[in-house]
Amino acid sequence: MAIERTLSIIKPDGLKKNLVGAIIAHFEKAGLHPVAMRMMHLSRADAEGFYAVHKERPFFGSLVEFMTSGPCVVMALEGENAIAKNREIMGATDPKKAADGTLRKLYATDVEKNTVHGSDSPENAKIEIAYFFRTTELVKR
Ligand code: CMP
Repeated sequence: MAIERTLSIIKPDGLKKNLVGAIIAHFEKAGLHPVAMRMMHLSRADAEGFYAVHKERPFFGSLVEFMTSGPCVVMALEGENAIAKNREIMGATDPKKAADGTLRKLYATDVEKNTVHGSDSPENAKIEIAYFFRTTELVKR
């Protein structure tokens, strides 16, 4: 299996619940290791740009409000099959549908305040990592 990189965000609800360490521990135990990491409070423009594909959705305004409501941790995670593995660890978008033991089942509040984001494809992983990190900020492990 190929070594990949994916973008992960610990969302404002995750920080409010003091889950940063617990969430990163899940990733590390599963072989996904941060190669870039930053704590940041997204501006409206940051959040609107990041979620631009959802701008026609009815939840877009509320999603932007939520994502700008407090600080996030943005990370590039590296490991074997990182994109699919991260999505498996996160669980379904809606925590009510997420499998036992997944981050969203364990920690999410609802379909919006769902604690973590992860890239959904190799193409989007590249785009999303580049949205937050310069090439020189990604370390070699
Ligand atoms: P994420 O994986 O970051 O991708 C888009 C985000 O939009 C998603 O997680 C949720 O936070 C949010 N989202 C998706 N579907 C809904 C919905 N039906 N209602 C509110 N927010 C949603």
